[in-house]
Amino acid sequence: MDLGSMKQFNIKLLEWYDCNARILPWRDDPSPYRVWISEIMLQQTRVDTVKPYFKRFMKAVPTIQELADISEDRLLKLWEGLGYYSRARNLKKAAAAIMQEFEGQIPSDIQSLKSLPGIGPYTSGAIASIAFGVKAPAIDGNVLRVMARITANKGDIASPRIKKEIEDLVSQILTVERAGDFNQALMELGATVCLPNGSPKCAECPVQALCKGHLQDIAAELPVKAKKKDRRIEQKTIFVIEYKGNIAIRQRANEGLLSSLWEFPNVEGHLSYEESKARLKEWGITSCEIMPMGTSKHIFTHLEWHMIGYFILVQSIQEYNNFIWATGEEIKKQYSIPTAFKAYSRLINDK
Ligand code: ADE
Repeated sequence: MDLGSMKQFNIKLLEWYDCNARILPWRDDPSPYRVWISEIMLQQTRVDTVKPYFKRFMKAVPTIQELADISEDRLLKLWEGLGYYSRARNLKKAAAAIMQEFEGQIPSDIQSLKSLPGIGPYTSGAIASIAFGVKAPAIDGNVLRVMARITANKGDIASPRIKKEIEDLVSQILTVERAGDFNQALMELGATVCLPNGSPKCAECPVQALCKGHLQDIAAELPVKAKKKDRRIEQKTIFVIEYKGNIAIRQRANEGLLSSLWEFPNVEGHLSYEESKARLKEWGITSCEIMPMGTSKHIFTHLEWHMIGYFILVQSIQEYNNFIWATGEEIKKQYSIPTAFKAYSRLINDK
């Protein structure tokens, strides 16, 4: 892209952003804390999903000090349903580091930001530019797609080489006056106009005339992505077990997938009615009604759970095992059950 086009691109994009920026709860007051929390929530999660979580989080945890001091259970409960829970744990760790190493103030330079847990190249650029006006690029998936189309780049945007090319170009286009707005405008264009999966709305695009992908009529085919590896599939049987109005839950291991979150007792494989009965017996449950609850599928990044569920109404228990027996209301208020179990957890009453 030549210098004149870069200037044009910057001007056209910011003009468009000034008229079309979505009203988002963190935009009216882009303080470093609010920008940080919103950017972490927005990783891998859509804006519409994040909005209510962000508002609730800001009310519940309004300061860095409170975030550093929050209990893990309470934090995970606030995060319940957002997924990628290591993001929440890293927030708490980073808050403690900010209190200790940066006198309670979020740093404004890229190197210090990147030293904090959970803050990588994208998030450091977003915080530095949006909250502090630093001239730093913030390259997320939306920006990679937009810029691959603008430059008709047919390389794989997952490769470090193409990412670097795009980052260098964005760094050149950025101006110090409105670095944060420019970064957000690029993301906004990607989220609302330059849409993925072959459906860019080029007719609505403010930089259509500068887009090589559009001019060459290949925008919809870009970006080229390397084929993803297939996900591993695991079959599971989920048991929602009710006894005297309480539901059995247990805590997952403190490492690995969904670590330390709460779940309904479950086992590998799709168990038949008879096999389920045998398993329940191992758990000390000998007298119960078993009712099928249907199937559900949950997709993680590298894994799919294909689940069947049974609702178990227990008449008597021979021995208590290591389940926690909680009321529906307690589960709702205190225990963070991941979205993967939603098809089954939503059937519990808040008694
Ligand atoms: N996606 C992630 N951060 C964003 C932001 N600040 N504006 C728009 N989309 C985003």
